[in-house]
Amino acid sequence: MARIKCGVLGATGAVGQRFIQLLANHPWFEVTVVAASDNSVGKRYADAARWFVSPEMPAAVRDLLVEPCEPGLNCELIFSALPGDMAGPTELAFAHAGYAVSTNASSHRMAPDVPLLIPEVNADHLDLIPVQRQKRGWPRGFIVANPNCSTIHLVLALKPLHDQFGLSKVVVTTMQAVSGAGYPGVPSLDIVDNVIPFIGGEEAKLESEPLKLLGTFNGAGITGADIRISAQCNRVAVRDGHLEAVSVELREKPSLAEFMAALAEFQGEPQVLRLPSAPAFPIIVRNEANRPQPVLDRDVERGMASVVGRIRPDPIFDYKFLVLGHNTIRGAAGGAILNAELLVAKGYLSLEQTLFRQSTRQAVKIPRTIMARMLDLARQGAPNEVGGVLASSNGRLMLYEAENGAEDPTQAYRMATEDQRRILSEIDDKGLDIFAVFHSHPTAPAYPATEDLTGAYYANAFYVVLSLADPDRPAVRAYRVDQGRGDVVEFPVDVTP
Ligand SMILES: NC(=O)c1ccc[n+]([C@@H]2O[C@H](COP(=O)([O-])OP(=O)(O)OC[C@H]3O[C@@H](n4cnc5c(N)ncnc54)[C@H](OP(=O)(O)O)[C@@H]3O)[C@@H](O)[C@H]2O)c1
Repeated sequence: MARIKCGVLGATGAVGQRFIQLLANHPWFEVTVVAASDNSVGKRYADAARWFVSPEMPAAVRDLLVEPCEPGLNCELIFSALPGDMAGPTELAFAHAGYAVSTNASSHRMAPDVPLLIPEVNADHLDLIPVQRQKRGWPRGFIVANPNCSTIHLVLALKPLHDQFGLSKVVVTTMQAVSGAGYPGVPSLDIVDNVIPFIGGEEAKLESEPLKLLGTFNGAGITGADIRISAQCNRVAVRDGHLEAVSVELREKPSLAEFMAALAEFQGEPQVLRLPSAPAFPIIVRNEANRPQPVLDRDVERGMASVVGRIRPDPIFDYKFLVLGHNTIRGAAGGAILNAELLVAKGYLSLEQTLFRQSTRQAVKIPRTIMARMLDLARQGAPNEVGGVLASSNGRLMLYEAENGAEDPTQAYRMATEDQRRILSEIDDKGLDIFAVFHSHPTAPAYPATEDLTGAYYANAFYVVLSLADPDRPAVRAYRVDQGRGDVVEFPVDVTP
């Protein structure tokens, strides 16, 4: 299946390796370029990178030759894991040359026209991209930034609290893993048997970035949130996973149960849009007295969730708790990949042109009555996904509705086995053909989710997806999926009288 070509800058480092690991087998993105410093340029990636993030380096990148971090690379999307000083001018050069840049580095985070993004928190800040392009004269390229690795987990926890109760003050003390300092990072003789009570620049980031993230897009820029934050940052002898002790003062005073529910029930756009890297819930609340712990909790939801525990009243502020998160996954590479998935879902990256080849063949013709019936079913069934089969005989279509047998029908559509048997045997008995399998997306766009593609078995049938994301203008799209070739082709849809 064709995917969006991407390049990883700083591909040999701690975050770069995470990108390579997380992008292996990604449904939308494919690593075509690895780039790093002059020390690595020209070497095979397998020889240049001292691989340490998982047992095996993905086979697809082993023989890629490391390229210099300069525009001209064979990709349209850049993931940047460059050191801060190097990242600033390099990322500007790529965006200027027309690349989409999703960066982990700090250089552009606080630029007024650069979205500083956590998709669950401030997806609407992507509206800064047109502002950025206009201001800088970039017709195609742009930069979107990840927050600092401690900020991401802090703000994921702060977001539902701020939305529901209003934050006025936050005090946070971090215990940050050694992988946060890159590879090889902190010398072992400095960190073993020790805590280092200083991480250069970190406290300023934790005190400023949340205000932009929780701020409001005002049409031209971001109006920062009115919250006072005090941070202290420490390096501890943990390999991966930043732990943060947080106290909050709130404008409204929720009960402990309301406070905990706000965290545990929180979901954002990645969950609604069912983005491939999104955790089911971005915050996992633990009730045990001794959790979260880095070793036990950092990999929950593939390292993409923040784990909150020890929630209790605070004798000075209102409540206190601990939040833990993986620093190189959600805190860096995984976060930047989720940002890029949101860019696809919001139309800033052209997944449909790249992933879904457009058919030049004839349109899929669906009679008006059948289309109206499918849309009625979708509306009546919402928030559940609904679906069924369109069978054909001599060009005439018949609609068979089939129960949704998915475990969570708000998140997926899987034809219930009983209905599938009944419909297939009726189609067989009457000598009909399966013309299309259809299902609805109550809130997600009208392109098939990863599990829709893997469950698309009928090579000769169309897969029709109806989206009610814009209730006034439902979208209907049709695809053919060739599992053998790993190919998805979109066909235009014609509504016939
Ligand atoms: N580690 C974390 O938890 C974390 C979390 C969030 C954000 N970040 C940010 O992500 C970025 C990368 O961090 P890291 O921890 O992965 O660092 P790292 O392990 O030191 O890796 C740095 C990478 O940049 C390359 N590089 C260094 N100097 C270069 C130059 N002059 N030109 C081109 N490439 C150069 C290195 O290539 P060679 O191997 O060829 O030297 C290596 O691939 C930093 O901006 C950091 O602040 C890190």
